[in-house]
Amino acid sequence: MDYKIAVIPGDGIGVEVMNEALKVLEIINTKESIHITYDIFNWNSDYYLQTSRMMPENGLKQLKEYDAILFGAIGDERVPDDVTLWELIMPIRKSFQQYVNFRPIKLLKGMDTPIRNQSTKPIDFVLIRENAEGEYSNAGGIMFAGEHRELAIQNNIMTKQGVTQIAEFAFSYAQKQNLTKVTNATKSNAIIHSMKFWDRIIEGVAGEYLDISYEKYYIDALATYFVQRPQDFQVVLATNLFGDILSDLGSAIVGGLGISPSANINPAGEFPSMFEPVHGSAPDIAGKGIANPIAQIWSLALLYEQLGRKDIHDKVITTIEALFINKVNLTADMGGTASTTEVGDSVCTILKSL
Ligand code: NAI
Ligand code: MG
Repeated sequence: MDYKIAVIPGDGIGVEVMNEALKVLEIINTKESIHITYDIFNWNSDYYLQTSRMMPENGLKQLKEYDAILFGAIGDERVPDDVTLWELIMPIRKSFQQYVNFRPIKLLKGMDTPIRNQSTKPIDFVLIRENAEGEYSNAGGIMFAGEHRELAIQNNIMTKQGVTQIAEFAFSYAQKQNLTKVTNATKSNAIIHSMKFWDRIIEGVAGEYLDISYEKYYIDALATYFVQRPQDFQVVLATNLFGDILSDLGSAIVGGLGISPSANINPAGEFPSMFEPVHGSAPDIAGKGIANPIAQIWSLALLYEQLGRKDIHDKVITTIEALFINKVNLTADMGGTASTTEVGDSVCTILKSL
């Protein structure tokens, strides 16, 4: 099968880790029956400084033609972070109805966790974050009615359709994967309009999946359970903001941002889905050649899974695990001394031999 994807490396380490993912893609092209070609779009902060836009006016129209999007990371001190986010990532997520942000929290073989709980159960769950509405809405504003009367309103918008579709995705995902439990991250004790609405709709969907048990925790308590007993979770369903925070916490318990992937999925398949590491452009280490490319490579593996090649996804994971088990060629964030390129090369070498 032939596919064509759009590649947006972005800024900082986004560009560095993307180079390694593309090397992996080329190896897969030579080994497997699937063939992916790609076009690179340099829509980043440099582009913004030249054009005052994060992407061309017809950018979304261009991207729409591709089977998927592989994204690096954006963010640069010369451009405000809300501009890079709201003019590039948000329009892609929202226009392409990528309402599922799918983030595996899995402790791979060979990896250590800072969690001291000696449970023999593996840490292996997915965080399903609502990705198109909720707290990340641009409805609101700052009102100025005299010097001591300035006020800000930031609305949290939840629609019945939006909450229903993310809940249905979470429960049907659990069912397809033979999982038995979905956990809802809420705060309906304090946020009494939107979060009670969220709970009510999710509970309605839960009632249609009698083979899957349902539990609900307040987000603050759930954050402690992520640290105290992460082995107990299978599918965690969260709003846009809560999911954003929980996914970085989840990432920290299985090895950190350098290895954490994500997928922004359009479940209906009418628009391309987008695959990107959880991390940002890491200005503190950009340009040094020491960024960990595993999160980007794992995100590429999720892209193959979405294209129907779970077997390739699994091979890439086995490759990453081989690297972790041997403990050679790891980047500094994992206690090693290898460069970004060396890690990418090792992944390619192991993958070729599988
Ligand atoms: P960040 O994820 O870029 O960095 C947080 C920490 O993790 C830093 O110490 C960094 O060095 C480390 N880190 C991240 N990725 C790593 C990797 N692959 N290997 C080794 N270490 C890694 O988050 P931060 O610092 O909050 O944001 C930096 C910029 O990135 C900002 O401009 C922000 O807006 C942007 N950002 C962009 C995202 C995206 O493109 N989706 C997501 C998050 C942040
Ligand atoms: Mg985040």
